[in-house]
Amino acid sequence: MGHVPVMLDKALEYLQVHPSGIYVDGTLGGGGHSQAIAKRLNTGHLYAFDRDHAAIERGYERLRPFLDKVSIIHDNFENMSSQLHAFGVDGVDGILLDLGVSSFHFDEAARGFSYRHDAPLDMRMDVSSAFSAYELINTYSMDELTRVFKRYGEEPFARPIAKNIVKAREDAPVKTTEQLVQIIKASLPQKVLKKKGHPAKKVFQAMRIEVNDELETLKNTLKHALDLLNPNGRLVVITFHSLEDRIVKQIFKDASTVDHPKELPTMPQTTPDFNVLHRKVIVPSEREIEENPRSKSAKLRAIERVNKN
Ligand SMILES: C[S@@+](CC[C@H](N)C(=O)[O-])C[C@H]1O[C@@H](n2cnc3c(N)ncnc32)[C@H](O)[C@@H]1O
Repeated sequence: MGHVPVMLDKALEYLQVHPSGIYVDGTLGGGGHSQAIAKRLNTGHLYAFDRDHAAIERGYERLRPFLDKVSIIHDNFENMSSQLHAFGVDGVDGILLDLGVSSFHFDEAARGFSYRHDAPLDMRMDVSSAFSAYELINTYSMDELTRVFKRYGEEPFARPIAKNIVKAREDAPVKTTEQLVQIIKASLPQKVLKKKGHPAKKVFQAMRIEVNDELETLKNTLKHALDLLNPNGRLVVITFHSLEDRIVKQIFKDASTVDHPKELPTMPQTTPDFNVLHRKVIVPSEREIEENPRSKSAKLRAIERVNKN
């Protein structure tokens, strides 16, 4: 199944693509957002990043008609400033981050992202990186596993699950998603197992965040991205869980407020360099959720640079 771009209309509305502008899509994925941006450019240019080689291959396919105005870059979006610098670009008019993984990651069973398919424990978005879900599950201490499941999965049964993983690997390493799902199920009380939703969902989310260092990467990237924006340039971020959304909300809040020390009431009036473009976080319409259930947990936030000092 192809990846249907989430909140495409809203993302474009907030990005306000100018035909001669310079844009970055940090998360090329299936190329849906990138294609829509590229279509709106004439003399402008789009730099599209993905850390996943499969997304890069698909991106070349989908964006073939636009390759005169699109550069596809196989790298972590965390490195966007240095990559753009190498192209002679120091400022951009818009940046989009549509976080998480693509539908094809879940559909490709062998990548180990899904608790629904049996596969080797992996979950690396960049398969050249050395640390995978296998290392996480088989080398982290019970305390470290508990911390990861609690912090990144908000899993209330983190401790018993971690304990059972450590016990299971005393005999032999835990190698597959199915083995892990069985350990998780055996660690949960019946009343939790009977609830709606897959019992391994929280642990799998936590592993994915840890394996790909997603939250630290996001924090660093948002700061670089804000620095890169030209005056009137916009940063649009779509997140899929509350841990990511909280980070975006906080960094946007910090960037769009100026602290006036109370003890200095006569300080010259300064205005913040950034302006958040909405009062309430933007969520998909009911119709979009019906048509594309993957969009259900999406949240979009957008910020604009008003001053460049
Ligand atoms: C939700 S998908 C993007 C879908 C895309 N907007 C579309 O319309 O098809 C997220 C993509 O971002 C990539 N990704 C996630 N974190 C990344 C990072 N730190 N650097 C570069 N790419 C990343 C994933 O590999 C995945 O392909």
